[in-house]
Amino acid sequence: MDRIHITGGVPLNGTIPISGAKNAALPLMIASLLTGDTLELANVPRLADIAALTRILGNHGVDHMVVGKRPGQTTETGQTIRLTASNVIDTTAPYELVSTMRASFWVVAPLLARFGEAKVSLPGGCAIGTRPVDLLIMALERLGAQIEIDAGYVVAKTKNGLRGAEIDFPKVTVGGTHVALMAASLAYGTTVISNAAREPEVVDLAECLTKMGARIQGAGTPRIVIEGVARMNGARHEVLPDRIETGTYAMAVAMTGGDVVLENTRADLLHSALDILSTTGAEITQVPGGIRVRRNGAGIAAVDVTTDPFPGFPTDLQAQFMALMTLANGQSQIRETIFENRFMHVQELARLGARIRLEGDLAIVEGVDRLKGAPVMATDLRASVSLVIAGLAAEGETQINRVYHLDRGFEALEAKLARCGARIERVRA
Ligand code: EPZ
Repeated sequence: MDRIHITGGVPLNGTIPISGAKNAALPLMIASLLTGDTLELANVPRLADIAALTRILGNHGVDHMVVGKRPGQTTETGQTIRLTASNVIDTTAPYELVSTMRASFWVVAPLLARFGEAKVSLPGGCAIGTRPVDLLIMALERLGAQIEIDAGYVVAKTKNGLRGAEIDFPKVTVGGTHVALMAASLAYGTTVISNAAREPEVVDLAECLTKMGARIQGAGTPRIVIEGVARMNGARHEVLPDRIETGTYAMAVAMTGGDVVLENTRADLLHSALDILSTTGAEITQVPGGIRVRRNGAGIAAVDVTTDPFPGFPTDLQAQFMALMTLANGQSQIRETIFENRFMHVQELARLGARIRLEGDLAIVEGVDRLKGAPVMATDLRASVSLVIAGLAAEGETQINRVYHLDRGFEALEAKLARCGARIERVRA
């Protein structure tokens, strides 16, 4: 298995191009199942999760084409793909494929809405909590689907099509909102989603669905209204920038010191995280087409953080922020409210010398003067990258094992960091 070697203690200086958002690209690709026409998606990151979903869609019969490079494009520009679901041959998503990635469960919505049936394995995904799908099933049932769980599969059917309904989520769920949006787009009549997720990826999906002919209002607010349409059409859409990748590199700079411009991204996608970073002492400024992050000399101030649905502080940046706080001046309290088991990075950060105590959903981080490199193990996607950040700031050598987690969600991680001076390399097994 590949490993990543880091020799820490080098400030980051330069520019880092930010990729398209994995968590937007996945539902956008799934939306291709809603129409027989071609959906063209630009700025799609080259990631293991994207490749896995491509295989899953291919298994349903979706044609996938990578559009050739245009002049001026580099490997960092993101790829353009065309997906055409004109000949769906199978409405079953099997365990072997779905178990590798939780988001692939969302295919249930377009398959059911367009073909009246879907059989989708209950999902797998990162080991960050129990992560049920009860709310996704509730949303589809509200739209009139008959659903059974049979031998590990969700079997969903509808006799005369889905019907618009009121869907009131008792808890904010990104996946539930994606599923409800896609299914309601092809339902008869009006659907009202209350307590909808407001994440930028939800807005991106709604914008693409609208280009595909859906009638959606209120995406980005807790109340979304969808007027169902009889059929949807092809479209072209550019995936929005990855706010989690943006925040991750911003935290890396805040931790190692230096001066980096994050290109092709937007501050409005992660205001809460950038505000918190400023409070820790990093200088954050908006520049044309991106964000500049600087930290020179001054210590890192300890700040408390609670994860929350958007626009709150994202759970997907919690591990990276904890890495930063391990070197803060004083004590920081980090509360995780989204996933109950998302602290696997704690014991690995401890191997680098971090002092962290867990009390239920609260991590209490006592800042130390320095971290020291060590061999560590990647556990889930965001936890893994927190170890990279900590390794960049630690003295000496850090070796990160099981890096396939990183490849699921960070495009060209080593190359992007190395161009800013980091001493980081992948050792192929
Ligand atoms: C999305 O997962 C993201 N994944 C996650 O990113 C992210 O951490 C999460 O949203 C929260 O922002 C993708 O977009 C592919 P949820 P999702 O439904 O949609 C509970 C990463 O690292 N819940 O918003 O699966 C659930 O257990 C990944 O890129 C139910 O109880 O998350 C959690 O406590 C990890 N029943 C809360 O809701 C349900 O049926 C929010 O989960 C569904 C969810």
